[in-house]
Amino acid sequence: MKVLVTGGCGYIGSHTCVELLDNGYDVVVVDNLSNSKENVIEKIKKITGKKIKFYKEDICNKNKLDEIFSKEKIDAVIHFAGFKAVGESVKKPLMYYRNNLDSTITLLEVMNKHNCKKIVFSSSATVYGSPKKLPITEDSSLHTTNPYGTTKLMIEMILNDLYISDNDWSIAILRYFNPIGAHKSGLIGEDPNGIPNNLMPYIVKVATKELKELSVFGNDYDTIDGTGVRDYIHVVDLAKGHIKAIEKVSKDKGIDTYNLGTGNGYSVLQIINTFKEVNKVDVPYKIVERRDGDIASCYASCEKAKKLLNWEAKLDIYEMCRDSYNYVKKNK
Ligand code: NAD
Ligand code: WQD
Repeated sequence: MKVLVTGGCGYIGSHTCVELLDNGYDVVVVDNLSNSKENVIEKIKKITGKKIKFYKEDICNKNKLDEIFSKEKIDAVIHFAGFKAVGESVKKPLMYYRNNLDSTITLLEVMNKHNCKKIVFSSSATVYGSPKKLPITEDSSLHTTNPYGTTKLMIEMILNDLYISDNDWSIAILRYFNPIGAHKSGLIGEDPNGIPNNLMPYIVKVATKELKELSVFGNDYDTIDGTGVRDYIHVVDLAKGHIKAIEKVSKDKGIDTYNLGTGNGYSVLQIINTFKEVNKVDVPYKIVERRDGDIASCYASCEKAKKLLNWEAKLDIYEMCRDSYNYVKKNK
């Protein structure tokens, strides 16, 4: 079976390509390298010992995408490509709406033309906004607070409308919680350019002394120690969830949405302390004001994915902290 992975050179896409190849799938990657590097493809080959096809193209380019579909005879798509920085999306909303929506609509049109109607889509826990009850189930109310989140919610709605119009489609919408960690080889992982927005990449840069200290955004939330609580999930577990989703869309028609998290919430201070203990490094920090738009706690109910996809996360917070640091140390 041949799977097209859009955004396959990125953080989650690259780990998913490894799992797909390890599970015997043929993989075709389309990525415009707007937030990744081509050498990821060589690294995926090195980890798996398998062949992988790569096209450096923008998936908003309908003609190119059409050519790729004609040539490759794709059976199913995993759609990661898109912009993902919340703060940037507030400053450049049109860039986010253009890229995330245009790429998705173009992809769906080309898939339709080639009668390829199986897709797994990367959504986000951000669509739950400020959750009213925890753990968050898939039927919780949806609400977005920034243009990035709104693109994810709009794409979910587009996919729902598409299925209503044509019941031949098989669609899995995956809402990821907070992916961290890296492949144990240390060859692929996440190391954003500049000053990171997210907690784990920031902690890693403090541990490697690239940044002086971490600012902890608030210690007066109603949580175990006052700092924000999130459901961190190892990217390799997340990647394995995509294999289960591909199996599901290959078998059953329909549209369904699944949370992919661990079901456990950890506070910022718990993450810092675990990171220090596992990696035996110091992570200096100071407490500062709350960050605008942050919520106190967010963690998933993963019962639906367990029941219908036969998937659950296996790797713990120690492994997440160890592998995040290992990747950056090896690639400094
Ligand atoms: P990433 O930026 O590392 O990967 C995205 C990839 O898509 C990049 O390689 C980029 O070059 C490519 N891309 C972007 N626009 C493109 C286009 N028009 N044509 C071709 N390629 C394009 O991001 P990631 O962390 O791997 O996230 C993957 C997906 O998961 C995204 O859709 C993101 O919104 C979603 N997601 C990520 C997180 C997270 O915390 N990392 C959480 C929830 C959801
Ligand atoms: C985690 C916790 C912060 C940085 C974001 C997106 C979401 C999804 C995942 C894509 C919070 C605290 C952080 C720092 C801190 N991405 N923190 N100091 O905000 O849960 O989710 O990434 O879909 O859409 O919004 O993740 O890693 O930024 O923050 O104290 O320097 O760490 O306040 O409690 P978040 P995060």
